[in-house]
Amino acid sequence: MSAAEPPQGANCAPAGGSEARGPDGPSRGRTCESEARASFDTPRAWGDRTVERILDRARWAPSGDNSQPWRFEVVADDHVIVHGHDTREWCVYDIDGRPSQLAHGALLETIAIAAREQGLTATATRRSDRPDARPQFDVRFAPGNAIAGEPLAEAIERRAVQRRALRMRALQPPEKAALQAAVGDGYEVRWLEGASRATMALLLFHYAKLRLVAPEAYAVHRDVIAWNSRFSETKVPDAAIGLDPLTTRLMAWIMQRWSRVEFFNRYLAGTVAPRVQLDLVPGLACAAHFLIVAKREPTTIDDYVAAGRAMQRMWLTATTLDLWVQPEMTPLIFAAYVRRDRVFSRKPGIESRARKLATRLQQIVGDDARRAVFMGRIGAGSAPRARSLRRPLAELLVR
Ligand SMILES: Cc1cc2nc3c(=O)[nH]c(=O)nc-3n(C[C@H](O)[C@H](O)[C@H](O)COP(=O)(O)O)c2cc1C
Repeated sequence: MSAAEPPQGANCAPAGGSEARGPDGPSRGRTCESEARASFDTPRAWGDRTVERILDRARWAPSGDNSQPWRFEVVADDHVIVHGHDTREWCVYDIDGRPSQLAHGALLETIAIAAREQGLTATATRRSDRPDARPQFDVRFAPGNAIAGEPLAEAIERRAVQRRALRMRALQPPEKAALQAAVGDGYEVRWLEGASRATMALLLFHYAKLRLVAPEAYAVHRDVIAWNSRFSETKVPDAAIGLDPLTTRLMAWIMQRWSRVEFFNRYLAGTVAPRVQLDLVPGLACAAHFLIVAKREPTTIDDYVAAGRAMQRMWLTATTLDLWVQPEMTPLIFAAYVRRDRVFSRKPGIESRARKLATRLQQIVGDDARRAVFMGRIGAGSAPRARSLRRPLAELLVR
């Protein structure tokens, strides 16, 4: 059993499941269209069908705050409708739906990889008549060419975020070449290493303050962190976020009320310890920070879904190379809000802070900030001892 594997019967946060706003998202149980189609399988017990095996692997795709913004409608053995949603109603990091769209791309890429493992190709088409906040994708499976294994498939469940310190050994040219190849021709991986690593660590340290003093971000963190746990099916366990045990316990208590957060921030420099542990130290302790930069500025939902596919190929490739990744999306998200004049906080001073930080990001990465679709840090190291799990497939199926 790897360190990241949960023990049998691990204590997981309860699966929510009411049709409502909030991190639990929409529930299963809606009746959807269905049609008879040629099948790859003769009828067997539930869970034995190829399509279910593919979806059972694909649900391990990453999503912001483990939101899993998707449900699956199995129309036939060769046809699944992915019902996507975003989290703009409650998540300050997703008010344009872009991170959710990246996650949808990651899911579709993982479906394609899991399908290839079964000797099938998967083709996904977005339905153009659905609103961007609730996209739907028709995924059709067809017999594929027999291929000699699918190298990324073994990494699907092993891939996990490592938010703690990584080794600082530089990435080797073959590792960088494999990661660049993984994102494909439409993107370039830009590396920030050596002295730039410290510059990025400091930038993240400043961005973390924005995250910790904005009431809108507080509401998200309070709801998406599973306190006192190492594993969670629906949230991010507190043991996976990178704090030491004492600070974790203190944060768990403080985070119960916004008034406590404000008090600690104002009188006890409450943001310093978490920012050092969550951003500064890991920002320094890694091989490099990186940006996935699109060659053409992304503007549409399809651009972000395609970028999510590239992100997942790179992340899975990193896993096969025994490298760990932590996304660092805050700078890109808030810099985009500044560019688009998006109002995201009611608290005075937050938006001017975001403008200053966007200028600083621009000074570091130049015009890449505008075309960057994903940012993170990477390095060799040990597997995380705590991680997000996923909702069971049965809960993700709509009938
Ligand atoms: C689009 C996107 C943005 C993310 N942003 C962040 C981030 O800024 N910081 C972070 O620590 N994790 C981030 N994550 C990682 C998710 O929290 C993580 O994938 C999810 O909790 C599932 O955990 P796992 O990847 O370890 O299986 C992001 C993931 C995605 C797909």
